[in-house]
Amino acid sequence: MKGVSHRCAHKSKRAVSIIGTGSYAPERILSNADLERMVETSDDWITSRTGIKERRIAAADEFTSHMAAKAAQAAMEQAHVAPEEIDMIVVATVSPDTFFPATACHVQRILGAKNAVCFDVSAACSGFLYSLEIAQQFISTHTYDTILVIGADKLSALVNWKDRNTCVLFGDGAGAAILRSREGSHGVITTYMASDGNYADILCMPGGGCALPITSENFEQHLNTIQMNGKETFKLAVTSMQHAALRALQQANLELSDIKCIIPHQANIRIIEALADRLKVPMDKIYVNLERYGNTSAAAVAMALDEASRKEHFQIGDYILMVVFGGGLTWASSVIQW
Ligand code: UT7
Repeated sequence: MKGVSHRCAHKSKRAVSIIGTGSYAPERILSNADLERMVETSDDWITSRTGIKERRIAAADEFTSHMAAKAAQAAMEQAHVAPEEIDMIVVATVSPDTFFPATACHVQRILGAKNAVCFDVSAACSGFLYSLEIAQQFISTHTYDTILVIGADKLSALVNWKDRNTCVLFGDGAGAAILRSREGSHGVITTYMASDGNYADILCMPGGGCALPITSENFEQHLNTIQMNGKETFKLAVTSMQHAALRALQQANLELSDIKCIIPHQANIRIIEALADRLKVPMDKIYVNLERYGNTSAAAVAMALDEASRKEHFQIGDYILMVVFGGGLTWASSVIQW
């Protein structure tokens, strides 16, 4: 019995907090006016259908790991965490520098985080919340103390710049958070995650993997670029995010009225407005920055979290709800107490 009680004490779950955030967007701005010169589109169409006005595009020699490391450095600075203190680096991305090694290993090298175990998570736009949950599990069970979670994507490298259906939507960027155990109740309260592979084809990059390796024929058919059924994705995004938001609240034993700020995936303002409408929450409770960055995939919610916290959209002790949706299909939601 003595051994059992010792084990229980040792394994008791501990609270996990976000102790610092950071984000990074590349310098180059691609405006809707710029896109008008590239494909048959208009600022009016893009703005009215998506809410996006401009997006950032990484330089040719600026990779996902470079953006990820910059966001991480900002988070580490805010958290006062040195590279050697990081036990794990999780990078959520679908645009890794290389198939292998993982982008997280490239980030480790840039940061000098020599004590970290590193891997990537592929969950498209939901990757940051999936990774947050992975980190939360490792810390709450006392396996690791300090984990760096990054959402980073360079979708400009995966876009067919001749396809107006997709090229106007996406942008590049990275967002990061440092997680650590903290005394008291503040922290990541709950995360809900879901997936449905039956819809794998409606938002995907079919080529480049072992199913359709890059050949000149596949390349000519643009199979190494993002393909999306926009309308179907839109509908599923709204219903899945609504479901996920309510599930996380239920798990956290909270009401929507308890939430100070909702931070959704930044894909389309009409998706966010439909979500607000279904949840019956005013838009001023929802943080939106997609007009400046477009859809940055795994980075989107992480960049928005960092921006919203630095702009003091919430204070210590406030409840925040993050909710995301992406290719896979994947979707997720987290409730945190700041
Ligand atoms: O991050 C993962 C989640 N991703 C998403 O959530 C994206 C979800 N989908 C969407 O955001 C929207 O479906 C889109 C913004 C992609 C498209 O908006 P829509 O209102 O569903 O438009 P649509 O696909 O029904 O297209 C309407 C028309 C079509 O023309 P016709 O066939 O009606 O003549 C398109 O060819 O708009 C045309 N179109 C464009 N016109 C000007 C499509 N893209 C463009 C464009 N500029 N860039």
